Amino acid sequence: MIIWIASYPKSGNTWVRLFLEKYYEFLGKKFTTYTFPKIEDLIKLKVDFKNFVELAKNWENLQNSINLDSKTKFLKTHNALCTINGHKFTSKNNSLGAIYLVRDPRDVLVSYSNHLGQSEEKVLRGMLDPQNGELGEHEGFEWKKSIMGKWSDHYNSWKNFGKDNFIIIKYEKLKQNPEEEFFKIINLLNNLCEIKVDKFAILNAIKETSFEKLKKNEELNGFKEATKNGPFFRKGIVGDWKNSLNKKTVDQIEKKFEKEMKELGYLS
Ligand code: PPS
Repeated sequence: MIIWIASYPKSGNTWVRLFLEKYYEFLGKKFTTYTFPKIEDLIKLKVDFKNFVELAKNWENLQNSINLDSKTKFLKTHNALCTINGHKFTSKNNSLGAIYLVRDPRDVLVSYSNHLGQSEEKVLRGMLDPQNGELGEHEGFEWKKSIMGKWSDHYNSWKNFGKDNFIIIKYEKLKQNPEEEFFKIINLLNNLCEIKVDKFAILNAIKETSFEKLKKNEELNGFKEATKNGPFFRKGIVGDWKNSLNKKTVDQIEKKFEKEMKELGYLS
């Protein structure tokens, strides 16, 4: 069964996955993670992935096939928890639970525009676009991997995923108190898939996936999700928007996402 690690881009998804990988390693357990949908799976199931409506039609088929073995896997997704032409992104049949990462949209914008090598105005237009999606590349062809919608749509789509099988983690709280937040994640996994809660392993996994360590490792060995526009582990801080966004952009974000930002404590 699938446990989703879901987020709008640049909200801490990789940090959580790398932490879990280390945590499982400390427990001597196998950890499976990749990004959904995987091109190999689409090809195997003969899905016309160049047509997004066809892809959406096959979301559940793909997940049925992934779940043919009964093992737990942690799938990363940037997809909104949406329905396209009557096709739901996922259902209880395939999903055991979800961890949703959320980050201040002003910092998301800074991080995302660095990652994509695009102006803040262009990235903001995407964050305000209900049809906004994420592109993948296969043999020189760009295909739409997922639909995220507006930043606020994304958060609103996932926030009611479930109760006992769901947790929302704020990037800012992970930075402020990683022990407490990762403990919450492990506790959820303890309920979902009986993974042991081990304080020593939590502390060690936090240490092994500190920003400094990951950045140093990227400098030495590279990182597969980095783009030509700069390092993946860029700054890893809270509030970088204050150093870089222009006032017009900040005003627009705060106006358009006021309700959700207040709900999340990003605006008073
Ligand atoms: S992606 O590409 O959408 O999956 O990006 P995602 O992994 O969600 O987010 C990338 C940002 O998370 C920062 N990051 C961290 N911050 C603090 N500590 C740790 N360990 C850590 N690991 C990743 C990463 O640096 C990106 O943020 P920015 O602001 O660009 O530095």
